[in-house]
Amino acid sequence: MTAHEPAGAAAPADPEVLRLRAAAALTAARDRTDVLTSCVGDPELTAQHSPLMSPLVWDLAHIGNQEEQWLLRTLGGREPLRPDIDKVYDAFEHPRAERPALPLLPPAEARTYVADVRARVLDVLTGTSMEGGGQLADAGFVFGMIAQHEQQHDETMLITHQLRRGPAVLTAAAPPPAPADASSLPPEVLVRSGPFTMGTSAEPWSLDNERPAHERSVPAFFIDTTPVSNAAYTRFIEDGGYRDRRWWSRAGWSHVQQHGLHAPLFWTQDGGVWLHRRFGVMEPVPTDEPVLHVSWYEADAYARWAGRRLPTETEWEKAARHDPATGRSLRHPWGDTDPTPVHANLGQRHLRPAPVGSYPEGASPLGVRQLIGDVWEWTASDFLPYPGFAAFPYREYSEVFFGSDHKVLRGGSFAVDPVACRGTFRNWDLPIRRQIFSGFRTARDAEDS
Ligand code: AVJ
Ligand code: FE
Repeated sequence: MTAHEPAGAAAPADPEVLRLRAAAALTAARDRTDVLTSCVGDPELTAQHSPLMSPLVWDLAHIGNQEEQWLLRTLGGREPLRPDIDKVYDAFEHPRAERPALPLLPPAEARTYVADVRARVLDVLTGTSMEGGGQLADAGFVFGMIAQHEQQHDETMLITHQLRRGPAVLTAAAPPPAPADASSLPPEVLVRSGPFTMGTSAEPWSLDNERPAHERSVPAFFIDTTPVSNAAYTRFIEDGGYRDRRWWSRAGWSHVQQHGLHAPLFWTQDGGVWLHRRFGVMEPVPTDEPVLHVSWYEADAYARWAGRRLPTETEWEKAARHDPATGRSLRHPWGDTDPTPVHANLGQRHLRPAPVGSYPEGASPLGVRQLIGDVWEWTASDFLPYPGFAAFPYREYSEVFFGSDHKVLRGGSFAVDPVACRGTFRNWDLPIRRQIFSGFRTARDAEDS
């Protein structure tokens, strides 16, 4: 355990407060699941909108099945409710493209199932002591894990909604315009060399791959103050970036050639104007928003074109959490308090990223903005375990994905709920993926200073 973590995150809380917090997190996740699965009819719930995604009704019952397995059977010691469906909803048994052909619960049955599970879970929660009951129950971890799991699938379902064709069914208010100082921000911020504390051993609902806290030494570097904008990315396109071998990794070049990529996913050009389709609505690409729906290969190529590189995961986390005044690592860029709407664009509140330079109150101590929320940020790094990693409570969450196949994304998108987002949170995906809410910022080495 390091001395450089916030004490607040680890402060023991009253068990009743912990139970209320767990119940509130589960309820918030279910409210969002309901929004995402009630805004389309049954045929659209069972349809496959993209071979990259499951039918929405698979995600729905999978959410309930994971909850049943962990909270009712494992934690609660209850008899299985529907052991017959475990295989159908096991993500490792069936790739997404094959899920429409499975004997899925029809929408009405899936809804009844998840509601039945939840009613019993709330009963289990009432009888769970939140400390001294072992690693699974302490501080309500497994309830937090299941609330985060549901929120992660809610983001997955939102991606399915983005891929779906047809008129818009989801709406939200636009985020506020960029603050007055956005256009005068320094383009990059210097992060001086020196050690910092990466990962966490104190955050009670952190997942296995974020643990444990450990010290890392990082040479000085510069990092972009904001994510890369659509305006900047359009300059790369219009400079012939997609046709210039120099900017691409070997694998990236072969991928763009093979698939004829020439712009981010969902973009089309009409009479010299770039348009994109967002949740069923065509609109001009907003120049001041962070670029969205790019693969790691595209992010990597853009950075090389710009004479820069992607930040490593370690650099990203140091820029986001290190407080030079105290030497401590914060829970979030702005400090140890939970996110509120003044800090970050989260929770599907706006259904789009905010203009670059937004959220001055969410800036890190060094002045880096929009690290949390808006767009997932690709990093240069492979998804690897931290020293001392221990799979918990199941190998299939993280451990089976470690290696050089997956690249790490940080920070969370506008579609991430606060419960599933923090300065230590790690996401990962294949470098070809771009249906996810992915963008990036760039970095460069600095003279040691
Ligand atoms: C952490 C987002 C990569 O969606 O594949 C959901 C989360 N794990 N169910 C995914 C997850 C099991 C995971 N990601
Ligand atoms: Fe899952």
